[in-house]
Amino acid sequence: MAEGPNTPGGPDQTAIMLGLETSCDETAAAVVRRDRTVLAARVASQLAAHAPFGGVVPEIAARAHVEALDHAVQAVMAEAGLGFADLAGVAATTGPGLIGGLMVGAVTGKALAAAHARPFVAVNHLEGHVLTPRLTADVAFPYLVLLVSGGHTQLVLAEGVGRYRRLGTTIDDAAGEAFDKVAKLLGLGWPGGPALERFAEGGDPARFALPRPLTGQPGCHFSFSGLKTAVLHALRREADADEATRRDLAAGFQAAAAEALAARTRRAVALARDRAPGLERLAVVGGVAANRAVRAELEAVAAAAGLGFHAPPLALCGDNAVMIAWAALERGGAGDPLDAPVRARWPLDPAAEPAVGAGVKA
Ligand code: KG4
Ligand code: ZN
Repeated sequence: MAEGPNTPGGPDQTAIMLGLETSCDETAAAVVRRDRTVLAARVASQLAAHAPFGGVVPEIAARAHVEALDHAVQAVMAEAGLGFADLAGVAATTGPGLIGGLMVGAVTGKALAAAHARPFVAVNHLEGHVLTPRLTADVAFPYLVLLVSGGHTQLVLAEGVGRYRRLGTTIDDAAGEAFDKVAKLLGLGWPGGPALERFAEGGDPARFALPRPLTGQPGCHFSFSGLKTAVLHALRREADADEATRRDLAAGFQAAAAEALAARTRRAVALARDRAPGLERLAVVGGVAANRAVRAELEAVAAAAGLGFHAPPLALCGDNAVMIAWAALERGGAGDPLDAPVRARWPLDPAAEPAVGAGVKA
């Protein structure tokens, strides 16, 4: 299947969508054309507002979205040089995510759509991530995606627009969450992933024997809490751990996390090939895709399996509104009702079994 529900006749390449993203701690707006041109994109990060608390505070996030979203919309529309009448629709993330932020984006999107008589499109945040490789590299279905962020760690086989099979997910922490928690243990700042990667440079990844969770176990699910606990115990054993020791531990954790991600992805490739023999590509999206050790491991998995590898540019790996506008364009159609609900939980593959009890030893 070459295209989504826009066929027959192919999608209108001139269609332009405004996208809004407010599901977590980035306030984002973007204007994207169906021919894959990003006309304008803004991401207002709330990092500074949450940093004193060492994590995202939902109430602070919702208020910050209220303050930043209108401005972001005005900025992208001005930069694109467009009026609302030029839009094929207004798309907003309506789940999954923090409910307060989702409401800000959904209400704004619906109000703009209603005021300007445009269709409103309710987009699943995970679908935005999963479809990004088709925007950035015109990747054809079917392809396998590893989504690794602060909130999600999932292996998804994308078979078509709206047709996703979740092959694996995490049974406890998301990979990014594990990076953030270990960084905190090591006294690094928040968000911890980038800080930990820098701190691990020059560290000896082999000094501490850390577990590679679930490697060799059946299925493709992930687990990171045991690895995090192993780091905590190692740190406790090393009373007054000096900086070199902590760098070794950071490097050890990073290597273990990257190898665990790779091992589960390797299994998912085999499973995906059973279902979709034409599989040609592995893509990685989400904030953790910025990590060079993780990328290197995944590139090796793809190469060994004879698959092409694609990681979108970093700005489109983390949360952004370009992917929301793009997902709406890919879906085509007449849009969603103005009473479309916001959903804190919204699985991409409703048929996927829950992680616990799916043959995984937790
Ligand atoms: O996709 P993202 O920007 O936001 C969501 O979680 O939705 O991902 C953020 C996560 C954080 O947990 C952050 O620590 C992690 O991605 N991250 C990294 C790196 N850059 C960001 N983890 C490891 N290494 C990095 N270089
Ligand atoms: Zn995300």
